[in-house]
Amino acid sequence: MTHAKPASSSVVVSGIQPSGTLHLGNYFGALRQHIALHREYPSYYFIVNYHAMTTLQDAEALRRYSLDVALDYLALGFDPTQAHLFLQSDVPEVTELAWIFQTITPVSQLEKGVSYKDKVAQGLPANAGLFTYPVLQAADILIYGGDVVPVGADQKQNIEITRDLAQRFNQTFSPGEPVFPVPEPLILDDVAVVPGLDGRKMSKSYGNTIGIFDDGAELKTKVMAIVTDSTPLEEPKDPDACNVFALIRLFAPEDERQRIAAAYRAGGYGYGHAKKELLQLIVERFAGARERRRDLARRPDDVMDILREGGRAGRERAGVLMDAVRSATGLVTTYRSPR
Ligand code: TRP
Repeated sequence: MTHAKPASSSVVVSGIQPSGTLHLGNYFGALRQHIALHREYPSYYFIVNYHAMTTLQDAEALRRYSLDVALDYLALGFDPTQAHLFLQSDVPEVTELAWIFQTITPVSQLEKGVSYKDKVAQGLPANAGLFTYPVLQAADILIYGGDVVPVGADQKQNIEITRDLAQRFNQTFSPGEPVFPVPEPLILDDVAVVPGLDGRKMSKSYGNTIGIFDDGAELKTKVMAIVTDSTPLEEPKDPDACNVFALIRLFAPEDERQRIAAAYRAGGYGYGHAKKELLQLIVERFAGARERRRDLARRPDDVMDILREGGRAGRERAGVLMDAVRSATGLVTTYRSPR
């Protein structure tokens, strides 16, 4: 992590896309850090199913992925007694806040959205939800009074939009008495470039991923399919130019990493050897989590209870901010405060 440590009273918030099975890119890019941070700060982590709807219109898949993400976080060590984990749709007020924010968001700012343009360039339909995605993300963050947002570098622009919205809202509706703190991004581990099977950045949209919980024959087939050059077994190899080693580097402790790098350079060590070692490292790293995930998957009601409790806490916190927002903007409601 590249920033100074946030103050311990900082509210940490982050959203996780349930757009597919989580993979090693997600793990090293965000999940691992979320798990490390969640005990240290009052935190709200939510599974952004409203966001996922901008690109996924399949009820069965959305349901499954949403619960899969919850299982993944819990299995990998997220402790629901230490921080809140919940479904975005359990706090429907975020869509209300997103609407309010839309009325103070210049269209021209959204038109500069890099991820919007990327997604449309990839052929995704340019729906209004995709266009206003960053506004909903701002609502996600600000509705809990978030101070710090641990995200990957690709989210910088969205956090910038969030900061602008917090400031614009404060200036427009509550000058002198800010409703929202202006959050800071905590940009996670830019060093962890995780290559996919084809050597490009591991990404669901490239179809080059290794799932965190892939196992058995599927995992083996994928690892064996990682692209390497054709240097013969006997010859010396450059570990720093190898996709397999780039993954080994993420998993292996320092001494192992050094031993394997030396073996590459010495020659007589083939990519097949490296792949076997990588496979072993992946299996070992996630063995405990895999066991916990299997156990949790057999107790879906317990997982629902955890999410329900997280959602309750999220709604409670959001309610306080929303009262201030309705009051500052003059939105009268007859059945809830403020009148
Ligand atoms: N846009 C984020 C991503 O693709 C997901 C997200 C939605 C998010 N709402 C958020 C991240 C709020 C941080 C805070 O990863």
